[in-house]
Amino acid sequence: MSERGARAALAVVVLPVVWAGAVAAQTSAGGTALTNLGSPATPEEIADRDPIVGPGGEGLPAGSGTAAEGRALYDRRCAACHGATGREGPDDRLAGGQGSLAGEGARKTVGSYWPAATTLWDYVNRAMPFNQPGSLAPDEVYAVVAYVLYLNGIVGGDDLIDAGTLPRIEMPNRDGFVPDPRPDLAEASGRARRPPVAVEARVAVEARVAVEAPIGAAAPRAPAAPPSAGSVLDGVFTAAQASRGERTFREVCAACHDPGEFSGGRFRIGWVGRPVGELFETISTLMPEADPGSLSRGEYAAIVAYLLQLNDYPAGDADLPSNGRALGRLEIVARPAP
Ligand code: HEC
Ligand code: HEC
Repeated sequence: MSERGARAALAVVVLPVVWAGAVAAQTSAGGTALTNLGSPATPEEIADRDPIVGPGGEGLPAGSGTAAEGRALYDRRCAACHGATGREGPDDRLAGGQGSLAGEGARKTVGSYWPAATTLWDYVNRAMPFNQPGSLAPDEVYAVVAYVLYLNGIVGGDDLIDAGTLPRIEMPNRDGFVPDPRPDLAEASGRARRPPVAVEARVAVEARVAVEAPIGAAAPRAPAAPPSAGSVLDGVFTAAQASRGERTFREVCAACHDPGEFSGGRFRIGWVGRPVGELFETISTLMPEADPGSLSRGEYAAIVAYLLQLNDYPAGDADLPSNGRALGRLEIVARPAP
C-alpha cells in the first residue's frame, strides 16, 4: 500500500475519535455529559472486517475469476478513479512503472511496487471501491484483481485466479522489501497470521508525489458511451494511413513494444467494446513513455489506424480522423469470426 494508503487507513480509525473529541469539548462547555456514542461491534461486524489475507494466501476465500471477467467490473467500479488502463489516474496509478523504481522517475504501482499479489486481494476486498468498500463479492474481487494484474502484464487474460493460483504469482518487486526485524512489532500484533511488516529497501519515499504528477494530466475519463456513430468494421482508415502509422510505430514505439502486444487476444480484452477515441487518448496522452504527447495528432491517428489494421479490421476510403469527438463515437467491436 502507498504511504497515502497507509495514512488514509489510519485516518479511518482516527477520525471518529477526533470528531468525538470535538463534540466532547463542545458539550462539556455546556455541561452535558457525553454518553451513548456508537454501539458495540457485533460478532458479525467483527467477523466481516477481521479476516486478513496474508502474503502466503492464508485466509483467501473460495471463489475465482479471470481478467476477461474482471474487465467490465473494472470499467464500472474502478476506471473513473484509476483510469481506463490503470495508468491515467486521477487517483493512484495501478499499472505500469515496472523497472522504474531504482531510477529518477520512480513510479510505484501494483505492478512495479507491490511484493505480493495476495495483498492486492486483501486491499481491494477491504478498501475498494473507495466510495463503497466491502461491497464486492469474493468472485468479483478475484476477477478485478486478475484484471489489475493483467493490466500490468503479470497474468494472461484467461488465467484462472483463485486461492490456489494467486499466492503462486511472482510479483516483479517481490525481492524489493525486507522484513522488519523489530521483535516488539510481532509481539504487539500478537497475531501469527499478520503479514510481516515490510519497510522499503530501495525506494526513496518522497519520489512518489514528484514523479507521478505529469502522467495522465489529460486523463481520459471513464467511458461515457455517447451514441455510437458506427464501428471499426465500416472501413474507418485508409491503407496508406496504416502504413504511415506502421512506420512511426517502428521508429518510435518498437523500442519498447512488440506489435503482438496490441493484437489478438490482448487487443480483444483490452479494447473491444471501447470507443476508438479511448485508444487514441491513451496513446496520445501517455506515449511514447519518455516523451508523452510528442507526436502530432495525425501521427497518433495513423498509429491507431495501424493497430486496427493489425487486428484485421478493414481499410476504407477516408483517413481515420484525429478529432476526439468523432473518434469517441466510433466503437471498437469484435471482428466477426472468419
Ligand atoms: C471513488 C474513487 C475510487 C474508486 C471507484 C476506486 N478507487 Fe482504488 N483508490 C482510490 C484512492 C483515492 C486510492 C488511494 C487510497 C489511499 O491512499 O488511501 C485508491 C487506491 C487503490 C489501490 C492501492 C494503490 C497503491 O498502490 O497504493 C488499489 C490497488 C486500488 N485502489 C484498486 C481499486 C479497484 C480494483 C477498484 C475497483 C473495484 C477501485 N480501486 C475503485 C480511489 C478509488
Ligand atoms: C520508452 C519505452 C516506451 C515507448 C517508446 C513507448 N511505450 Fe507504450 N508503454 C510503455 C510502458 C512501460 C507501458 C506500460 C506497460 C506496462 O508496464 O504494463 C506502455 C503502455 C502502452 C499502452 C497501454 C498498454 C496496453 O496494453 O493497452 C499502449 C497502447 C502503448 N503503450 C502504446 C505505445 C505506442 C503507440 C507507442 C509509440 C507512439 C509507445 N507506446 C511507445 C513504454 C513505452
